[in-house]
Amino acid sequence: MRRNAVSAIARASLPVLRRLDPELAHGVGLSALRWLRPFWPAQNFPAALAVRCMGLEFAHPIGLAAGFDKNGDYLDALGALGFSHIELGTVTPRPQTGNPKPRMFRISEAGALINRMGFNNKGVDHLVAQVSRSRFAGIRGVSIGKNFDTPLENAQDDYVICLRKVYAFADYVAVNVSSPNTVRLRELQGRDGLERIIGALFEERGVLQERHGRKVPLLVKVAPDLDPEQIRALAQDLRALAVDGVIATNTSIGRRGVADSPSAAEKGGLSGAPLHPLSLSVISQLRAELGANFPLIGVGGIVSADHARATLSAGANLLQIYTGFAYRGSALLEEIVNALLP
Ligand SMILES: Cc1cc2nc3c(=O)[nH]c(=O)nc-3n(C[C@H](O)[C@H](O)[C@H](O)COP(=O)(O)O)c2cc1C
Repeated sequence: MRRNAVSAIARASLPVLRRLDPELAHGVGLSALRWLRPFWPAQNFPAALAVRCMGLEFAHPIGLAAGFDKNGDYLDALGALGFSHIELGTVTPRPQTGNPKPRMFRISEAGALINRMGFNNKGVDHLVAQVSRSRFAGIRGVSIGKNFDTPLENAQDDYVICLRKVYAFADYVAVNVSSPNTVRLRELQGRDGLERIIGALFEERGVLQERHGRKVPLLVKVAPDLDPEQIRALAQDLRALAVDGVIATNTSIGRRGVADSPSAAEKGGLSGAPLHPLSLSVISQLRAELGANFPLIGVGGIVSADHARATLSAGANLLQIYTGFAYRGSALLEEIVNALLP
């Protein structure tokens, strides 16, 4: 089957998927993608698009954000679409079911989603088994978190367990302290919390680096709901702790741009087009505070090539997409890659 025919089938199915409950559509879409994967031709990208960051070679700037493939079950299928990197997870030490359904809501007219999934995942051991079988040749990120019933005071133990288990298979590890759907998790973005988590992770990484002969970069993923003073303090902490990079941003607890929608009253994090101005301003400020060389992955509301260009101009080295991809499929990835061609 030729590429056009495969993408045509995939694209024709999107309006059908949008009629289903969003979480059901997500599962059906991913299963269909896995079925189509053998027919998806290999992709090559011009060397001019390559990005070297954190000692890793990315084929181009665009990756898939965390939460889309929480368990690594679809890594090869998603990889076949041509993402330069895929961030799996967020994964926790033990499996957990997350919040009761429904927990994902579309706001189609705004190109947005609200979700309160709550780190539903099959546990880190499952993810490791999946990733170790995968043949994805791009960059594999793994996002790690804590189980909902682990007290905040012991959170570092959960992060360390996950780091130890994924180390051999991850190109980078993202420390998720910014999901709005795990009670008090965002408190870990404060100085004390970060010091405790990052301190424990760095200590463990020292041991793992010796054992594996490889230093896996550790990045922190941050929330968009921070005022300029908080962003300044956070940037200082990231530098002081010598974190390897930052991912900005996660979803927002605000309802900017969707306040009139009936779903705006749902609890959870807002993502998609209305998030873009907020994530853009966080990225700009982080870049200014962190200096030119600090690795920064920009994510939040990138739903077109123009959004992608704006996020790169604001200072991101790499980009990730989630909601735009959920609505538009691989057409969005292709649009951005084509727009970035010299
Ligand atoms: C349904 C859903 C689940 C998500 N799960 C995670 C997650 O497990 N870990 C994480 O770091 N971010 C998670 N995110 C946040 C995304 O990775 C991304 O940061 C956010 O959606 C903003 O990007 P977007 O506007 O392109 O969607 C999730 C987002 C959505 C919509």
